[in-house]
Amino acid sequence: MEVIIRPSTEQAVDLVARLIIARLKEKPDATLGLATGRTMERLYANLVASGVSLAQCRTFNLDEYIGLEPGDPNSYRSYMQTHLFDHVDIDPANTHVPDGSASDLKKAAETYEQAILAAGGIDLQLLGIGEAGHIGFNEPLSSFMSRTRDKSLTPTTRAQNAEMFGGNPENVPKRALTMGVGTILDAKELVLLATGPAKAAIVAKAVEGPVTSMVSASAIQMHPNCKVVVDEAAASALSGRDYYDFVFQNEPEWEDYRT
Ligand code: F6R
Repeated sequence: MEVIIRPSTEQAVDLVARLIIARLKEKPDATLGLATGRTMERLYANLVASGVSLAQCRTFNLDEYIGLEPGDPNSYRSYMQTHLFDHVDIDPANTHVPDGSASDLKKAAETYEQAILAAGGIDLQLLGIGEAGHIGFNEPLSSFMSRTRDKSLTPTTRAQNAEMFGGNPENVPKRALTMGVGTILDAKELVLLATGPAKAAIVAKAVEGPVTSMVSASAIQMHPNCKVVVDEAAASALSGRDYYDFVFQNEPEWEDYRT
């Protein structure tokens, strides 16, 4: 794992956007795993502004609320249309979001896993992190071998996401259909982006704490190709930052990203 700390939120977001654009240059038909949430809004705005082509890409989103139709303004499908898909040249048929409105969720989950496999797996999986330590909606005690399935959301997560549901956590759906931790770990590369002071404590646990299913995001420590990109605020509880900065300043891989 590499931890990259940028002075500002804009610079952290910009680095991740540049990384994605570089990967797409190497492999225009890459399969991207996508995340939603407030952190990613800036990233998608950056990608849209860059004019990058997603014409040959396939995308798989991490999760969707159960019980919301794709057209619901609060669904993650709507989020993706609003923030990315409607503004880029991606073929709508190549975009995938779990079907949280399916009557048979088990089947929908299996179908999703099969579609990822049929696409040849995910090349780059983008991740945010929840204050409860989730990646996707893998709340505490999610098995590290879990696959796409339905999962109950924690009160912390429902409170964190209440803003989008009129400010009341009770309005946030209670469950979500989410890629499993095992599904996420199968991606060839992971890029976790976290910004702001509210993420500092959980970022430190995920990166430097014990690997435990109580903090699903700590599973990224087991991935052989994982980058964690944070701004100063989200980095503030990390104890090993001098070394992380040293790596970023010296690894040839990061040469183009230091400015
Ligand atoms: C959403 C997802 C979640 C979010 C996380 C952070 O698709 O996968 O894990 O990335 O809850 O959300 P924000 O960015 O709103 O703090």
